[in-house]
Amino acid sequence: MKILAPVHTCSIVLVLPSLLAVLQTTTAQKNGISIYSLTVDSKVSSRFAHTVITSRVVNRAETMEEATFQMELPKKAFITNFSMIIDGVTYPGNIKEKAAAQKEYSAAVSRGKSAGLVKATGRKTEQFQVSVSVAPTAKVTFQLVYEELLRRHLGAYEILLKVRPQQLVKHLQVDVHIFEPQGISFLETESTFMTKELAEALTTSQNKTKAHIQFKPTLSQQQKSPDQQDTILDGSFIIRYDVNRTHSGGSIQIENGYFVHYFAPEGLPTMPKNVVFVIDKSGSMSGRKIQQTREALIQILSDLNSKDQFNLIVFSGEATQWKPSLVPASAENIKEAKSYAAGIQAQGGTNINDAMLMSVNLLESSNKAELLPAGSVSIIILLTDGDPTVGVTNPTSIQKNVKDAIDGQYSLFCLGFGFDVSYAFLEKMALDNGGLARRIYEDSDSSLQLQDFYQEVANPLLSSVAFEYPSNIVEAVTRDNFRLLFRGSEMVVAGKLRDQASDVLSAKVKGKMHMQNITFQVESSIAQQEEEFQSLKYIFHNFMERLWAHLTIKQHLERIVSASDAESQDLKTRALNLSLKYNFVTPLTSMVVTKPEDQEQSQVAEKPVEDNNRQRNVHSGGSSNVDPSHTPRRGISRSGISSLPPDFGSRYAAAPPRFGQPGPPHDRDIFHTSHAIPQPTWEGLRGLPFLTPVHSDSSRVVLLSKEIQTKETTLTNRSQAPFQAPSVMLPMPEPTVDQMCVDIKRSQGPMNLISDADQGLQVTGQYEMEKAGFSWIKVTFEDLQLQVHASPERVVVTRNRRSSGYNWKETLFLDLPGLKITMDKTGLLLLKGPAKVTIGLLSWDDPRKGLLLLLHDTDNFSSHVSGTLGQFYQDPLWGPPEAEDKSKRALRVQGTDYSATRERKLDYQEGPPGKESSCWLVEL
Ligand SMILES: *[C@@H]1O[C@H](CO)[C@@H](O)[C@H](O)[C@H]1NC(C)=O
Ligand SMILES: *[C@@H]1O[C@H](CO)[C@@H](O)[C@H](O)[C@H]1NC(C)=O
Ligand SMILES: *[C@@H]1O[C@H](CO)[C@@H](O)[C@H](O)[C@H]1NC(C)=O
Ligand SMILES: *[C@@H]1O[C@H](CO)[C@@H](O)[C@H](O)[C@H]1NC(C)=O
Ligand SMILES: *[C@@H]1O[C@H](CO)[C@@H](O)[C@H](O)[C@H]1NC(C)=O
Ligand SMILES: *[C@@H]1O[C@H](CO)[C@@H](O)[C@H](O)[C@H]1NC(C)=O
Ligand SMILES: *[C@@H]1O[C@H](CO)[C@@H](O)[C@H](O)[C@H]1NC(C)=O
Repeated sequence: MKILAPVHTCSIVLVLPSLLAVLQTTTAQKNGISIYSLTVDSKVSSRFAHTVITSRVVNRAETMEEATFQMELPKKAFITNFSMIIDGVTYPGNIKEKAAAQKEYSAAVSRGKSAGLVKATGRKTEQFQVSVSVAPTAKVTFQLVYEELLRRHLGAYEILLKVRPQQLVKHLQVDVHIFEPQGISFLETESTFMTKELAEALTTSQNKTKAHIQFKPTLSQQQKSPDQQDTILDGSFIIRYDVNRTHSGGSIQIENGYFVHYFAPEGLPTMPKNVVFVIDKSGSMSGRKIQQTREALIQILSDLNSKDQFNLIVFSGEATQWKPSLVPASAENIKEAKSYAAGIQAQGGTNINDAMLMSVNLLESSNKAELLPAGSVSIIILLTDGDPTVGVTNPTSIQKNVKDAIDGQYSLFCLGFGFDVSYAFLEKMALDNGGLARRIYEDSDSSLQLQDFYQEVANPLLSSVAFEYPSNIVEAVTRDNFRLLFRGSEMVVAGKLRDQASDVLSAKVKGKMHMQNITFQVESSIAQQEEEFQSLKYIFHNFMERLWAHLTIKQHLERIVSASDAESQDLKTRALNLSLKYNFVTPLTSMVVTKPEDQEQSQVAEKPVEDNNRQRNVHSGGSSNVDPSHTPRRGISRSGISSLPPDFGSRYAAAPPRFGQPGPPHDRDIFHTSHAIPQPTWEGLRGLPFLTPVHSDSSRVVLLSKEIQTKETTLTNRSQAPFQAPSVMLPMPEPTVDQMCVDIKRSQGPMNLISDADQGLQVTGQYEMEKAGFSWIKVTFEDLQLQVHASPERVVVTRNRRSSGYNWKETLFLDLPGLKITMDKTGLLLLKGPAKVTIGLLSWDDPRKGLLLLLHDTDNFSSHVSGTLGQFYQDPLWGPPEAEDKSKRALRVQGTDYSATRERKLDYQEGPPGKESSCWLVEL
């Protein structure tokens, strides 16, 4: 076994539905290899992404050194080229049939050379790595090219770049160009390593159909700190977008004799569904897995549509159904099902066969009794984490039993939880029955992954969808019949146009909606389309043809899973022919990489296949990362080569983003200076006469920890702070009432904290005395269809039903249309949008303690703001300090009288450790 010192690594990951690029480089200091240029150039034309990564290194040492080029690419992408240029000589990778390639390199293997160059590394990624010896002063250029068709997932295409260079790179540049003829409806970026300085290196420009995202950090921007040569770049960079759609037959795009047809009509009503959840509760599920399953199930049950019918089956050695038949998703039934789900305990064996047959019987008996609504869709969702151990255990027999029972009537979706499960078994069973399989990775976000999957299938729009093209114009179309169209997804058909010229390509799309059949018709002018694409200078040649080939190969490979032997052989031959013709590294081909040192010594890059090899190490990340795009930081290949760089996990030194202008501490003493308050720089205070309704002009709400006894205490560690029930502080723009604070004196149920319809803003939360803060806070921006749900453990951001989870203190920089979400290492989460109140949420070091709520830019509140806290921004009427006790005064809000007393509190609006400040306290 040889341990390679990672010298220079550069990774790109392109994930379906995302495009993820990882740039990795190790420090030059380790040996003489220095990267002087590293570029990623990704061109997305009509969802087809073509990415080129180029890395240029030089050996500055006086001895021969080994340079390693390492990158991650999405599982769903195909490598199409790799080359090394050494001393002006190009060493291209050669893509060959797998068997031929293996023969070629078996000699190398027999001499003890390492095996594959590509291996699975993350949830969505695989890693490509090549090492080569470099002579002193010599330069090497590595170039990798790969292509992927981005898939629409919950209403968005995702391009994800992982940026992890491990040395400063003089020329580091990432360019993503997007061209979407349908028009880009939204574009957002997210990154986990962005600091204020780095954010300046990121530019996004966009017009109707095009977008260009560029990230080009200078050497000093890459530096962790001015005196450190380490790079701060280490994390994910994600771009999400969607295109405009109408209630139509979709969009047909044509280039160079090939076309692609995208179909995802807007505005179709959801079909009612009959869904049976089949949940594995065998012993192996015990612990966190079953807990996360319960959590997800409870959430999923809440998300059922009112017209749906459902039932639950739990199984271990035997299967049990919750109700004797399907029941409507009424509020009572859902409530009962949730408490049933909450009580699921894991133990025993795994009898998949009985559970599956029971689920089919449930649907069958409802069907026979005519209890399935006309025009409804019936689906079975199986979740299991292991192989069958009880009852029928032969996978082939189970597959046959299930297929015979379902008999094409229902769709089966299989979720494989973790790596003890035979994914191939589940995948075949799902594909045999018109559904699909997913792996659920064991991690802190497993519950979100389950919910995410459910969201994908939650809203069936059409069934039996068939695409029709005139056969005199079109030949060689990809799959044109699909069982179900779900909201948020997209159907894609590509094809080749016949030679004889025609002006117009027309198509029909037929499908069944709830209660009616529907036919869409769409036409596209061939000449006009050709022109549109040809005018794009950055389009790579024949991209549409490559898109067609890519999709055809993908579909052939998928069909092989459930095809008969003869069919399978035919599909393989056809997929292989296309893979070779278009130079794709697919599961049927390999790329032979020859190095200069020894012409005999070639290595082979092969596409890893989705398990059956029980790649236990693949998910070893076990990190608390919950971003599904995060790949584990370390991976051990099956050949035993430790290939990834040391852990750079704790290397962020982000300058935490802050509220607007840092202001002076608010430690003025109201007793002595009530009429001579210096104007705080961050607040435009205005003089307002007594009992004049004041529109809260620039006030802020600050949640404080209560009563700092000693002024001198510096709170460097929030866990050590004297911790009592904190107050909510509401600074008022009146000269005599600079800030007020609110003490919540009892735990109560969920509270409507702030509600401002004009802002589209709603903040709710639950306050817990024993947690001295909020046990959860939910912030909803209705106009953005965005919701942030924060608990002391984590933050979940949901947009258009797509959820991402983040742990506190992860750095995050999420730039959505109309809102920026940032989080820094101190655990301060900010939601800030133009003309919006900025909401801050602050977590403590100790997750047992509740969250703090902060508000900024509160002059953006409308005059209709309401809620427990919001009401104080709606025309508060302050009385003067009482004559006998100037530390008391009256307050009237919305007809309710309060008595306020002057208190000193700790102010967290600039984040921890907080500053001492005075306020008028009201108890609620
Ligand atoms: C692969 O890239 C090398 C270097 O750019 C180039 O010479 C070669 O023609 C490419 N191969 C294919 C099949 O595109
Ligand atoms: C796409 O939608 C956006 C937002 O709704 C709109 O501004 C834009 O004009 C649309 N573009 C096209 C090409 O229709
Ligand atoms: C927007 O369009 C103009 C011309 O139509 C083009 O020059 C510019 O590069 C486009 N911007 C982007 C980001 O593509
Ligand atoms: C839809 O079309 C099918 C034939 O494709 C037919 O059997 C069915 O009755 C039609 N349904 C409605 C509601 O028209
Ligand atoms: C695949 O290519 C081989 C030769 O390259 C040819 O003989 C064969 O007919 C092709 N098969 C198909 C299905 O196109
Ligand atoms: C803060 O204090 C707690 C309790 O004293 C301690 O466990 C923790 O490690 C401290 N955290 C830091 C960052 O110093
Ligand atoms: C929202 O707040 C910002 C910052 O205080 C301010 O610049 C902006 O004018 C406000 N917008 C509105 C609509 O009040």
